[in-house]
Amino acid sequence: MAALNLSRIEKTYPNGFKAVHGVDLDVRDGEFMVFVGPSGCAKSTLLRMIAGLESITGGELRIGGTVVNALPPKQRGIAMVFQNYALYPHMKVYENLAFGLKLAGTPKAEVDQRVRHAAQLLEMEHLLDRYPRQLSGGQAQRVAVGRAIVKKPEVFLFDEPLSNLDAKLRASMRVRLTDLHRTLRDEGQPATVIYVTHDQVEAMTMGERICVLKEGVIQQVDTPTALYDRPANVFVASFIGSPEMNIHEAMLQSREGRPGLMLGEQWLPLPADKAALLPTGTEAVRFGLRPEHLGALPRPDGQSLVVPGTLRTMEHMGNEVFVHFALGALPFTARVPADQLGALQGASRGDTHGFHFQLAACHLFHAVDGRRLC
Ligand SMILES: Nc1ncnc2c1ncn2[C@@H]1O[C@H](COP(=O)(O)OP(=O)(O)O)[C@@H](O)[C@H]1O
Ligand SMILES: [Mg+2]
Repeated sequence: MAALNLSRIEKTYPNGFKAVHGVDLDVRDGEFMVFVGPSGCAKSTLLRMIAGLESITGGELRIGGTVVNALPPKQRGIAMVFQNYALYPHMKVYENLAFGLKLAGTPKAEVDQRVRHAAQLLEMEHLLDRYPRQLSGGQAQRVAVGRAIVKKPEVFLFDEPLSNLDAKLRASMRVRLTDLHRTLRDEGQPATVIYVTHDQVEAMTMGERICVLKEGVIQQVDTPTALYDRPANVFVASFIGSPEMNIHEAMLQSREGRPGLMLGEQWLPLPADKAALLPTGTEAVRFGLRPEHLGALPRPDGQSLVVPGTLRTMEHMGNEVFVHFALGALPFTARVPADQLGALQGASRGDTHGFHFQLAACHLFHAVDGRRLC
């Protein structure tokens, strides 16, 4: 059993800098949890405190129900994989995998069995006889993961393990690692994983749940879908999703009894159910709309509102096009399937077009503190 429980965890570095501000978090036994956030938000600090590589200056950390604040790393039942997977250059892959176990006095037959099992899980049996210099970046990273697997830890900690790989390899390693987590679960050896990344795509595709951090404070902990559909604040809304959610300040204004808002010079009606959820007295909000809720054609169900915008640029991705346009002075990005460009096909910069806003899908945030209103 290796659930983790972080209670009011704080970190103040010896120089007085407070990097972590009272983090409360439960990671379930066998869960794949991702910590995501921009550089400097204290992902590594938190992970290193869990690993025991960094002291905890406030709060309590439990692993499997036991308070481990004072336990050295070796006694925490964890294995960590870093971005820089420093393998021993003078040892073959087999020895790299076996080294830690041998050092711990594990019987030879068991070392061999564990090394071969890890190699099989990571499809690298053919690499066991090679030296690290004979490996590609992706292969070396697999060996680094293998070194963690042979330890049979209850908790795996990954700190940006794929950052050094090119985009294509990163994509295949993502699948390999999530697959590995499921295989271990199927084999009756479930491992709790905490995976740190600054890459929201990695977070969204790998995490069963995601913990979004900003400046040492948790912003939201949720499933990928819930984070995407119901971001708790403007920070999460703009951090998750690519292209980013369009977010602009807006003033509430009813017209002829209909709730609505002014976006620059443009008045847009607000869906009644959303307007009803706004705290009474709200005057200003931050209005958010994901790029896929902006189109070039009317929605088949009639649930969109056409607004004239000025075309800036179009980025062709193959199956879809990111259309950048302006509503008055406000920039917007629409994400349009390539076969639904309509009159935008062949349009030029500066042309005026009708863009279809799917307002039922809009997000409204507090004008000042950015928290989700509805
Ligand atoms: N040893 C240290 N002493 C003082 N400040 C540190 C130390 N290590 C990291 N920090 C600071 O703590 C914050 C979090 O760092 P880190 O955990 O490495 O962030 P991340 O991994 O999310 O990029 C940063 O502002 C960083 O400068
Ligand atoms: Mg880091």
